[in-house]
Amino acid sequence: MRYSKKSMKIRMDYNNMMSSVLGKEGFTEKQLSDMTDDLSDAFDAVEKGKGKGMMGWVDLPYNQDEIVEDILETAKNIRKDYEYFVVLGIGGSALGPIAAFQAICHMHYNDLPRRKRKGPKFYVEDNVDPERMQALLDVVEVEKTMFNVVTKSGSTSETMTQYLIINSILREKLGDKAKDHIIATTSKNAGNLIKIANKENYKTFYIPDGVGGRFSELCPVGLLPAAVVGIDIKGLLAGAKFMMEECNSANVKKNPALMAAALQHLSMQNGKNIGVMMPYADGLKFIADWYAQLWAESLGKNKTLDGKDCNVGQTPVKALGVTDQHSQVQLYAEGPFDKVITFIGVDEYRASVEIPNGCEEYPNVNFLCGHTMNELIQAERQATEYAVTKAGKLNYTIMLPQLNEFTLGQLLMYFMLQTAYAGALLNIDTFNQPGVEEGKNATYALLGRPGYDEKRTELANAPQKQNKYII
Ligand code: PA5
Repeated sequence: MRYSKKSMKIRMDYNNMMSSVLGKEGFTEKQLSDMTDDLSDAFDAVEKGKGKGMMGWVDLPYNQDEIVEDILETAKNIRKDYEYFVVLGIGGSALGPIAAFQAICHMHYNDLPRRKRKGPKFYVEDNVDPERMQALLDVVEVEKTMFNVVTKSGSTSETMTQYLIINSILREKLGDKAKDHIIATTSKNAGNLIKIANKENYKTFYIPDGVGGRFSELCPVGLLPAAVVGIDIKGLLAGAKFMMEECNSANVKKNPALMAAALQHLSMQNGKNIGVMMPYADGLKFIADWYAQLWAESLGKNKTLDGKDCNVGQTPVKALGVTDQHSQVQLYAEGPFDKVITFIGVDEYRASVEIPNGCEEYPNVNFLCGHTMNELIQAERQATEYAVTKAGKLNYTIMLPQLNEFTLGQLLMYFMLQTAYAGALLNIDTFNQPGVEEGKNATYALLGRPGYDEKRTELANAPQKQNKYII
């Protein structure tokens, strides 16, 4: 699908972060201009890093022509031949596919009849809750299912456990044909999954070395599941490319991702340790989950690049407009001044629903009649923005003209660039996750993985829980 770049450009409105609108809690033009050198350094660091080390994700909108064709061909066959498509993965190998599916596909995609869906039912298994695995096996027929095993390291316990279970069932039912039901998405040169895939002759897609889990939605990790459910992946990549061009300046006023990073940085410096993301669109509900991982895992660090202790980061909180107006907004408005709220709005929803006439004798209900749900959700977004601004709480709004592949691609790239700039401003390694690795290694030790004896001893010698503290 072709999109008009101009009419589909996403916008960032940061009025409510500025003192001229918000009052004393807001930031001044001077505070922003005082950051010019730091912002310029952060911009340069990201520019210099592009395409190198763990910044391979910036190249994804440009360097995947061949892979995209392979993905489209593979997806076409899966759409035709399989009734179910199941992603087995966790963290960055699952959150992007979930977010894109929710954003673009029909809200009740799996409940639609096959002729309307045109593709298989879609599931992402991103946990090892045995009840959930059993529930999946209750609803899919494995002989009609394609399983996409996604793990960059090729060794994550959760994903490999799921693989072991599914492969065993497939082998029992289908013998050698099991291999036609598994696609591996993993590193070309590292980990166990690639070895297994080569031995078993699985169709394989590669995760580029320079693309970490949480930055991987625009590589085969996200593109294959997206194409299978009918998402226009070229549109997604075109949107991401457009955002790369929009963020091509060290001038913070001309670079929306740099502006977001600057404002978030100032917020963190002012003790705003919580970042709420509140989209006013059910389609964007899981973008908040995807962003939570991106922001938390990238910025939550205890050492600067030059080895100094730091303990930085901002806790991401997910909320959904308008649902969470009736849950969390009371806290946002009247609670502590410890947050910055990012609202996401949509100008034109993909459906329009009128509120019909009725309840004429009840004017306090009847005032709704003649409006649309579209008007209601917009009014509620504006009203909440107004209420938290009146309460002096930092907030800004990202507006999408529509929710489609092109705007979603922009949004994903915007947040990834914002994160890279924010990490550079904090002078940390944005792309590692030693805290996650620690937990992974402890799990390996607890379950007896070879080579983890030392970790096992460390765990055995850790302070033991005392019964007196369990009541
Ligand atoms: O962002 C990351 O790197 C992590 O959250 C990973 O995505 C997650 O731990 C899963 O790792 P893997 O893809 O190696 O299975």
